[in-house]
Amino acid sequence: MTEIIRIKDAKDHVDEVVQINGWLTDKRSSGKIAFLQLRDGSAYFQGVVVKSAVSEEVFETAKTLRQETSLSITGTIHEDTRSHFGYEIEVQDLKVVGDSGDYPITPKEHGIEFLLDHRHLWLRSSRQFAIQQIRNEMIRTTYEFFNQEGFIKMDSPILTGSAPEGTTELFQTKYFDEKAYLSQSGQLYAEAGAMAYGKVFTFGPVFRAEKSKTRRHLTEFWMIEPEMAFTHQEESLQVQERYIATLVQNVIDHCSYELTLLDRDIDQLRKYTQLPYPRIRYDKAIEMLQAADFDVKWGDDFGSPEETYLSDQFEQPVFVLNYPKAIKPFYMLPEEGRDDTYVCADMLAPEGYGEIIGGSEREWDYDKLQAAIEAKGLDMNEYGWYLDLRKYGSVPHAGFGLGLERAITWICHLDHLREAIPFPRMLNRLKP
Ligand code: 4AD
Ligand code: MG
Repeated sequence: MTEIIRIKDAKDHVDEVVQINGWLTDKRSSGKIAFLQLRDGSAYFQGVVVKSAVSEEVFETAKTLRQETSLSITGTIHEDTRSHFGYEIEVQDLKVVGDSGDYPITPKEHGIEFLLDHRHLWLRSSRQFAIQQIRNEMIRTTYEFFNQEGFIKMDSPILTGSAPEGTTELFQTKYFDEKAYLSQSGQLYAEAGAMAYGKVFTFGPVFRAEKSKTRRHLTEFWMIEPEMAFTHQEESLQVQERYIATLVQNVIDHCSYELTLLDRDIDQLRKYTQLPYPRIRYDKAIEMLQAADFDVKWGDDFGSPEETYLSDQFEQPVFVLNYPKAIKPFYMLPEEGRDDTYVCADMLAPEGYGEIIGGSEREWDYDKLQAAIEAKGLDMNEYGWYLDLRKYGSVPHAGFGLGLERAITWICHLDHLREAIPFPRMLNRLKP
């Protein structure tokens, strides 16, 4: 029996006869030779069919194959120094598994709406392959990193009664005789976890009814939310920068093929593995923006031009610390000696990608948290359990949330978040 291998392992099988199960992405042929572009979900490479070396039937089949036909190919692996991948297969035998016809995504350029309508097929193309492989590496690294740092993964519910990140961007649904919301964040549950197990992280889909159509907003995205008991801001920032540097390093180490498919500048990425990352206060950020003639005043939130300007002043991701209370959620810890700021930080990614992490120390005093909930006009019945965490052995604690798609978009250097998730959900898109 011929060994079945995956294309990515071709380097270990040079001069061996192997079987590849995959699909045809493109082909060229002349009277004597056919070049088949092949993919199997692990990599892309070329199959060469020489007329004089195969049966007449195999050569005829090769010549008439249509895009995305699935195939089993038997042949010999050779080095191929002309291709980026470095190897090819010289075909000896070829069997069609499933025919294909009129595949809608051809090698020519297509508009973005057309591609999004065909997302279930678009995922097969090499760029999308590279992005999803890198996404997978970042998810794998997340579990590895936090487990090594002594965290446990704790799942938070998707159906909830509370709205931690504000009440305007909620998806509401019927829950028998009650109202429920799709979770905007696992944080409040992660705080319960931190009080139970010390260090936890949640990772799951979160939902925000964002009416804005920007390249940075999805209505469904995946968030990693670590939460740590007995922890203050600086320690949390150090976890954040170690985590981001590890994500970048592992993508460089394990996804060099994918980064090349995306034309990503790896030397640029290497800068982001250097620690520490710079830290500036919000106050200072406002001064920098004003000095650069931005029309902003203390108290304003940053839009994407402001975030881009700020991050452009640094070579690495930058932390902006201690924002005004009015533009951040109720659960944050007020800064000592100031009545207008919280102990919080956003991490802005370089190259114009904006906020990738939001985090803070949490208010851990019962009465003050209760007052903050009341001041926001939130329903105390929904937050009784959350207040309990401040009643039974409360401790200083901190945590943060990384938007996975924001981080992928930056690391892969994409134009828009929609390619960072397999099936994006946006203002006007629920299908496929
Ligand atoms: O800054 P946010 O709203 O913070 C929280 O949800 C906190 N509960 C996190 C915590 O402290 N545990 O969101 C965190 C991150 C942002 O920095 C951004 O990367 C991403 O989530 N994000 C979005 N990503 C895609 N589409 C959207 N609409 C996003 N909104 C936020
Ligand atoms: Mg934020």
